[in-house]
Amino acid sequence: MNTQSHEANPYLLGSYAPTDSEITAQLQVISGQVPLDLAGIYVRNGPNPQAQPAGRHHWFDGDGMLHAVEFNNGCATYRNRWVNTAGLQLEQNIGQAQWQGIREPVRQLTLGRPYKDTANTDVKFHNGALLALWYQCGEPYRVDPLSLQTLAVDDFAGKRSTPVSAHVKVDGKTGEMMFFEYSVRPPYMHYGVVNAAGEQTSLLPIELPGPRLPHDMAITEHYSILMDLPVCVDTEALKRGRWRSVYQPELGSRFAVVPRHGTVEQVRWFSASPCYIYHVVNAWEEADELVMVAHRVANPVANHAESSASEFERMLQNLQMHAELWEWRFNLTTGATTERCLDVANAEFPSTNPRELGYPTRYGYAVTIGASQTLLFDGIRKYDLLTGEHQQVLFGQGICGSESPFAPSTAATDAAVDEDRGYLLSFVQDEPNNSSELWIYDARNLSAGPCTRLAIPQRVPLGFHACWVEAKDLPVQLPA
Ligand SMILES: [Fe+2]
Repeated sequence: MNTQSHEANPYLLGSYAPTDSEITAQLQVISGQVPLDLAGIYVRNGPNPQAQPAGRHHWFDGDGMLHAVEFNNGCATYRNRWVNTAGLQLEQNIGQAQWQGIREPVRQLTLGRPYKDTANTDVKFHNGALLALWYQCGEPYRVDPLSLQTLAVDDFAGKRSTPVSAHVKVDGKTGEMMFFEYSVRPPYMHYGVVNAAGEQTSLLPIELPGPRLPHDMAITEHYSILMDLPVCVDTEALKRGRWRSVYQPELGSRFAVVPRHGTVEQVRWFSASPCYIYHVVNAWEEADELVMVAHRVANPVANHAESSASEFERMLQNLQMHAELWEWRFNLTTGATTERCLDVANAEFPSTNPRELGYPTRYGYAVTIGASQTLLFDGIRKYDLLTGEHQQVLFGQGICGSESPFAPSTAATDAAVDEDRGYLLSFVQDEPNNSSELWIYDARNLSAGPCTRLAIPQRVPLGFHACWVEAKDLPVQLPA
């Protein structure tokens, strides 16, 4: 695409600049070797606008593109493909952008939407396929995990009646997927369950006091946790066609605890101090308590921007955040909430061993947020939730990373002793050299730096969420 007329827009330049090409390539090893006990696919979603953006383009507006590296028997293959959404197809057919982004007032609905459903935010694996998902709630797009070809919109075996937010949760032991949806219309939120075969088995209204902007949810073995946080939709701005949030800390935070297969009558609310939560590390059950560990933002709408900054500089600066590792305990007997800070380091985009999501875990992982004026990941942090200790590694000067999910070793068979036996993977950008690599870390020896570096033959733009798909879960096994 031609970016010359948008030279001043930082989201179309440097490490953010979209790529025009979709390629498949065997990766060359720069250092180390591809671990033989790493079998599966690392895949990351992110924005990559295809048509020339209309109006002031924001990073969140771009069409979803998946970048994946498939590991098989010591070989690594990279491929990247756009998520072939209805909006992308429409713009391809017409030849120009049909929506403006979140920095512009809404002029009209196209395909029934004020903004394009880009499926650019999250990617998860369920029922044999990847799901590409959007943070504003959209269609869940099924994508072939090996070819990255978009297959279809998932209708959950004909039962789906709502859009789906980013951050569905898959129980690796049962294969069930829990999801939520939020909107500006009462009841403002829904919660649903899809079984391992892909059929939606329940959908509950979760009644909120007004329109909110939740971003994530949590699961435990028997419960799901939904969030009513005091970051609200600015309804006055909405009447003027503007999409804005407003922080109302006086409302406090509330968490809905609902049995996984429960009813509306079984929803219980727990109060907590006001905050915002982008992402949960994990949650689990301990005696009569639910424990949730997440990154907590104490002041979610503080304007970090300097008043003298240009509009584009402010757009970048407003992405900066400070998120601390935090624990909430919801006591199902007393109805009380207790909460505490676990780690003050600024970090986000967490993961845990995906086999143990919703079950007690000792370890969590996140990428640390550097001191730059915007949201750039400068390293990886491993939390030991038992001892309170941590390991930290920095990518290095001029290098920033991506969400770095945990990938279990194929030799890890006993969760009690093997929970952290595996790897952390991250696409890293070397901005001065305009190049990208995939770095692999031994999760048990994070501080040693990457055990393997692979050269990516094209730049991978900065992006959002990533996941690890184990080869054993793929519908077609990788050729040996
Ligand atoms: Fe997210």
